[in-house]
Amino acid sequence: MKVTVSVIKADVGGYVGHSESHPDVIASAEESMSRAKKSGMLIDYHVTKCGDDLELIMTHQLGTNNEKIHKMSWDTFVAGTEVAKGLKLHGAGQDLLADAFSGNIRGMGPGVAEMEFEERGSEPIIVFMADKTSAGAWNMPLYKMFADPFNTIGLVIAENMHTGFIFEVYDVKEHKKITFNCPDDIYDMLILIGAPSRFVVKAVYHRENGNIGAVSSIERLAFIVDRYVGKDDPVCIVRSQGEFPAVGEVLEPFASPILVEGWMRGSHMGPFMPVAVEDSTPSRFDGPPRVSAIGFQLSEGKLIGPRDMFADKAFDYARYEANLMADMMRRHGPFEPHRLPLEQMEYTTMPQVMKKLKGRFVDFK
Ligand code: F6R
Ligand code: MG
Ligand code: MG
Repeated sequence: MKVTVSVIKADVGGYVGHSESHPDVIASAEESMSRAKKSGMLIDYHVTKCGDDLELIMTHQLGTNNEKIHKMSWDTFVAGTEVAKGLKLHGAGQDLLADAFSGNIRGMGPGVAEMEFEERGSEPIIVFMADKTSAGAWNMPLYKMFADPFNTIGLVIAENMHTGFIFEVYDVKEHKKITFNCPDDIYDMLILIGAPSRFVVKAVYHRENGNIGAVSSIERLAFIVDRYVGKDDPVCIVRSQGEFPAVGEVLEPFASPILVEGWMRGSHMGPFMPVAVEDSTPSRFDGPPRVSAIGFQLSEGKLIGPRDMFADKAFDYARYEANLMADMMRRHGPFEPHRLPLEQMEYTTMPQVMKKLKGRFVDFK
């Protein structure tokens, strides 16, 4: 059967500060989702959180970009915002950038990752959720999963993966997209996706049959960049096993933490720390950035799970290493490369400071 997996997320209020989600907000989303399931709109759902982000994971048969699903998700966030306002949670409704729903949740603040596919005999999916970072954070992990044989041995020794994968990459500055056939195009692709604040991997497809393997949320960066400067706290859905990377190959990139942008005030680089959902509580210097991964087996669209994939002890060392990296980055205080380059900072006093200092600048020879 054809099934659509929609993951739609928003920060509708933080507790305490931007460090966590309040149980009452999650409970309110559970209620909305339960109503939508009873009405027959959803086959199944799972509500969870990543730090201060509320995550709606839904299965249905209405396809991607469906107005009903998007409106119901928007209404869920509006109801969550009311609860958050009642508790005076921090930044209540911060991701709802529009006053009213207007047909498609894209460009209205929340992040969206959706894929429609024919459910296989066994259909394992992993939903990655991040806090305190931006959509480009998935670039390197997706490259490793679907194009790097040192991560994914299946590319070398599994016949059904050996032809490689197609990467769809968005240039969020020029509002253009391009596809790359990997492995043939990897050198060209890497010059672009190695700059993750501009070039972002949106989706990955199997090269032989065109089946979708992964999709990420890049809404804010790509669609509302002109009026919203901020970090996406993105999500990403990955299909696994068979013609796609095995679960262990999908998770492996996160065993070696990398530096991503988005820590403190969306203006700092920090290690991307893989954690269990309950440990997605960015506190130290509002971070460091977190990534959680929950796995499901789909069964006629039902979400069998979740399994909290980073709860595994094998990720303890990555967490330890990420903490050491955090110390190393914090040592730089307000200096780059901990602080982001001027044009990428979410917060800045640069215009005011330059205005104030204008008269004190003199030419030098
Ligand atoms: C980063 C983040 C936090 C806030 C910081 C200031 O994405 O959410 O680091 O930027 O706590 O928050 P406000 O401006 O809400 O006081
Ligand atoms: Mg927040
Ligand atoms: Mg957040």
